[in-house]
Amino acid sequence: MLAVGTAVIGSLQFGYNTGVINAPQKIIEMFYNETWFDRYQEPITENQLTTLWAISVAIFSIGGMLGSFSVGLFVNRFGRRNSMLLANSLAFISAALMGFSKMGASWEMLIIGRFVVGLYSGLSTGFVPMYVGEVSPTALRGALGTLHQLGVVIGILLAQVFGIESIMGNATWWPLLLGFTFIPALIQCGLLPLCPESPRFLLINRNEENKNQCVPEESRQMMREKKVTIPELFRSPLYRQPILIAIVLQLSQQLSGINAVFYYSTDIFTKAGVAQPVYATIGAGAVNTAFTVVSLFVVERAGRRSLHLLGLLGMAGSAVLMTIALALLETLTWMSYVSIVAIFCFVAFFEMGPGPIPWFIVAELFSQGPRPAAIAVAGCSNWTANFIVGMCFPYVANLCGPYVFIIFTVMLLGFFIFTYFKVPETKGRTFDEISSGFRQTAASGAEKHSPEELNSLGADSQL
Ligand code: GLC
Repeated sequence: MLAVGTAVIGSLQFGYNTGVINAPQKIIEMFYNETWFDRYQEPITENQLTTLWAISVAIFSIGGMLGSFSVGLFVNRFGRRNSMLLANSLAFISAALMGFSKMGASWEMLIIGRFVVGLYSGLSTGFVPMYVGEVSPTALRGALGTLHQLGVVIGILLAQVFGIESIMGNATWWPLLLGFTFIPALIQCGLLPLCPESPRFLLINRNEENKNQCVPEESRQMMREKKVTIPELFRSPLYRQPILIAIVLQLSQQLSGINAVFYYSTDIFTKAGVAQPVYATIGAGAVNTAFTVVSLFVVERAGRRSLHLLGLLGMAGSAVLMTIALALLETLTWMSYVSIVAIFCFVAFFEMGPGPIPWFIVAELFSQGPRPAAIAVAGCSNWTANFIVGMCFPYVANLCGPYVFIIFTVMLLGFFIFTYFKVPETKGRTFDEISSGFRQTAASGAEKHSPEELNSLGADSQL
């Protein structure tokens, strides 16, 4: 519990920085405006301000893409735990940049700070699920894996609450709101040295055989498994099926439209005629947290596959309800309440499956050799889709009006079909059992592959 609890402070940082930029938008824009005026003796134009703000929001996901893609550079060299420790230097740097940006009269500091904390968050979305997956006993891997997402949602909720005007979402305290990242980083640095390194890393990557008794079921075969690079991951038919599943599951998480809610909910609620949009947003954050806890308790019983399917279908239904509410708003004013219910259901179903499962299932789908590369590729797909939704949603919403959620409905149904036909259940199976399942599928499909591919398949199966 100490190891997992300490690791997920990294998840909390990711969630916090996802949610923190929503509430204080107007106040920080005012700071941009004043700083611009002081520098250039003329007010900033509407267009320039929109662009500066869009960059401040979206650069976080660019940092996330780069960070998640770099996971493999760290975890095999420094180990899982020390990589998390090292990454905190980024959290400190970003907290300083954002926290002092007002004092330094520099929006550049804020934007670079958002980029750096994006890098940190990208690394965390790789390090944390990998470490948690590797230190967890098989029977609890799903429940402990869900703690990563619980960290994320608590981070979002904290940011929403701290962002209330009377707390830190005001002209005086917003630098502290953004610089808050410093505190969890400090706590994590204090606790990580007390946590063990991943026993699988020590045994398999470092060959420290005296740790052998920690993971009795992981065979010698795994110890000899070589590190797999990203190009090899795509070349070998062995990994084709699991990497496709990992990528599509990450896309199903982001293209479900969840961050349309978490980045723009205040705006969505305002358009839906809700009187107190900020409180409805916090309500969404609370529902989000509550249902992650529900998922935590049912994931080892219901399994990953069924919860993911249930979540996708429920989200599709909620998106339809949202569309109806928005479309009928002009004639029936009470539809604004329906829109709140629809968003709450959308978020609740998300956390049943599509929220937590894609993050931890990647570690389950791959054995020790290909795991870092797979987590890097999956994480980067997630962050890229996150960036696309974040950037495009406002424009597409303007174009489609009340029908914008139909786009998400169609995608959700597509992901439902994919999951139904392609995603295996991983509950209660060891890493070894899961990857040998894929090995058999690859071998049975081997006739269809070129001789060159067959060679590499043969070589890999012996490892
Ligand atoms: C997941 C997503 C993240 C989203 C969050 C909402 O962690 O990766 O992008 O904001 O869930 O709870």
